[in-house]
Amino acid sequence: MPKKEGRNYLLSSPACLASLIAAYDHNENMRVLTGIQSTGTPHLGNLLGAILPAISMARTEGNDAFLFIADLHSFTTVRDPEVLRGNTYAAAAAWLACGLDVDAVTFYRQSDVPEVAELTWYLGCLTPYPMLANAHSFKDKSANVSQVNAGLFYYPVLMAADILLYDTNTVPVGKDQKQHLEITRDIANAFNRTYGEDTFVVPEAKIDEQLMTIPGTDGRKMSKSYNNIVNIFLPEKELKKQVMGIVTDSKALEEPKTPDSDNVFQLFRLLAPADAVEAMRRNYLNGGYGYGHAKKELLEVLIDHFAKQRRLFQSLMADHGELDRLLSSGSDKARQVANATLDRVRSRCGYVAKH
Ligand code: ADP
Ligand code: TRP
Repeated sequence: MPKKEGRNYLLSSPACLASLIAAYDHNENMRVLTGIQSTGTPHLGNLLGAILPAISMARTEGNDAFLFIADLHSFTTVRDPEVLRGNTYAAAAAWLACGLDVDAVTFYRQSDVPEVAELTWYLGCLTPYPMLANAHSFKDKSANVSQVNAGLFYYPVLMAADILLYDTNTVPVGKDQKQHLEITRDIANAFNRTYGEDTFVVPEAKIDEQLMTIPGTDGRKMSKSYNNIVNIFLPEKELKKQVMGIVTDSKALEEPKTPDSDNVFQLFRLLAPADAVEAMRRNYLNGGYGYGHAKKELLEVLIDHFAKQRRLFQSLMADHGELDRLLSSGSDKARQVANATLDRVRSRCGYVAKH
């Protein structure tokens, strides 16, 4: 996936969670769907940039939200079954700990709806080969692995099936997924031209350009592939290690410092109350305040701000049975919708409808 480097994404104005979340509110009476690739415990960037806004979107009245863990997509890269299972649990626990309400959202594991694999096949047969071969994410991913499997190539078709199977109107995703949504729309339109305009709902991507990119401990975009993450779900000792590892310049304690170009301050301002942010800014500008102090304050804010989420995450991870129950809570409804769509597609393509 394309990764942006450099610092120009850093916020020019202080932002708080409320404004982040407000940025994601949108039209009502929509089937809104998004998938979460399960590649390890989500980090602070995933949390602020994807999880919290998506949960808020799901809560918006009138939205019929579908949220799933894309564990079939993970199989393009993960070979260890324990890792695959564990990643699904960690992703699910993080979303649930952050407030995902399974009574309000259709929450499921992608692999619990096997209908998606059948639709993937039909869609693939109407997908031009060059469209997949030229996809940015395929080019990026295939350039970085020694063996390129066909699943990596087919990734966007499975994603199109994830979306089209559920008559989705809106798909909130990060900028990096824009092309996948264009591919989905192209496939839907090709099908509709061939088999009737009402075969598929053609979905809209919901990409919020204003949604900020959270910087990592080295100032680049926070990303698991840069090894610069802050994982708020870690035990305190390990979280402290990550925070203490944040890269700063080498100014001495007594020297004045520049908050706007400092990685500790950039993270602190995202979460701390406005008066605490102002106080830290003054401390930086005045000098006599070291990066060690700032890191300690940041750690306190992280632990305080996410106390409830940290507790919930730990208790869910200790109870896989409960996680399984929650993960399967939406699969019946998802399969019902999926089968209705699939029957429509089957009969239009010349196969036998099954329901
Ligand atoms: P990573 O870069 O760690 O591999 P993913 O690509 O799996 O993260 O991202 C999952 C979701 O989290 C996407 O919606 C993406 O836009 C969002 N996201 C990832 N990193 C950040 C970040 N640093 N700031 C804001 N949002 C992010
Ligand atoms: N490809 C998406 C990502 O990497 C995850 C995903 C899979 C998805 N299927 C989807 C997102 C369907 C939205 C809709 O983040």
